Amino acid sequence: MASSEVFEEGKERKMFEPEKFIQKQVQEVREKIEDGKAVIAVSGGVDSTVCAMLTHRAVGDRLVAVFIDDGLMREGEAEQVIDFFKSRNMNARLVDAANEFFDGLKGIVDPEEKRKAFRNTFYSVLGRVVREENASHLIQGTIAADVAETVKGIKTQHNILEQIGIDPESYGLTIVEPLRALYKHEVREVARSLGLPAEFSERPPFPGPGLATRVLGEVTPERVEIERKATKIVEEETSDIESFQTMAILMNDRATGIREGKRAFGYIIAVRLVKSKDAITAEAVNVPWEVLKRIDKRITTEIPEVVHVLYSLTDKPPATIEFQ
Ligand code: XMP
Repeated sequence: MASSEVFEEGKERKMFEPEKFIQKQVQEVREKIEDGKAVIAVSGGVDSTVCAMLTHRAVGDRLVAVFIDDGLMREGEAEQVIDFFKSRNMNARLVDAANEFFDGLKGIVDPEEKRKAFRNTFYSVLGRVVREENASHLIQGTIAADVAETVKGIKTQHNILEQIGIDPESYGLTIVEPLRALYKHEVREVARSLGLPAEFSERPPFPGPGLATRVLGEVTPERVEIERKATKIVEEETSDIESFQTMAILMNDRATGIREGKRAFGYIIAVRLVKSKDAITAEAVNVPWEVLKRIDKRITTEIPEVVHVLYSLTDKPPATIEFQ
């Protein structure tokens, strides 16, 4: 089975054998990299984590796993990811690039423009790391759904290099995408087979541009901080509710509220939980009212800038999972 083969959306392969897939990919990756050096940008997501583990099996210390701290991750995420790779005795590096990302996003409100700005900064930082590390290969965790949605032109995916006109070969860099033929549930099977802890193998998807995807309007450090606090509250309060993704979204508009008897013109947070199998369609989760009220109370108490909390009801389609 060719690793570049893309399967029809939502269709499960008759028999997917993760052990065989691992064996074959480790072999292929080893043959591709030969005696070169590889870099992978890891995010903690299942795709990049699995790619890093496969590549580490193939070339050991000649892989550097780099976590680019873009200032757009959830609380504690950078440390958690780096600690995990270090616990597996892998070469792991944290690159603090938050200021560069915020500079790149300054003044931009259009969702696709934000994605492009994120992507440009991402590849500029990653390019720097690749040069510093003298790498010959860049490992990418692209999966089949990324390719399919990009081909359909629904949203740009920051990891599809062809789409952004980057020709890695012109930089003397070879791209390796071990998961390009797999759908998410298959990647999770591979993750379990590799013995990854559930916090990685079952990790809900999280967009590449991080919390920037969930901050409508301009992405500033102050607005991301509000979004980050709200995300933490929503995740904590819904940890025992089954969902495909759980999120808080900072709206671009403000609402009139009351604080200490005075008019307060504050932020609005939307809460969204969806069930889905493959992210192609999704259904809003019926979250118990008491849970929603608890989230509302905590957000409006712990984040004084927020005066109004909403729950998102719409399925995909016609909505998409993210708001932008
Ligand atoms: P939508 O919002 O299109 O999302 O229904 C489908 C799935 O893709 C994730 N998503 C992204 N992932 N970069 C990513 O890596 C992005 O720009 C992006 N936008 C959406 C979303 O979280 C959902 O799982």
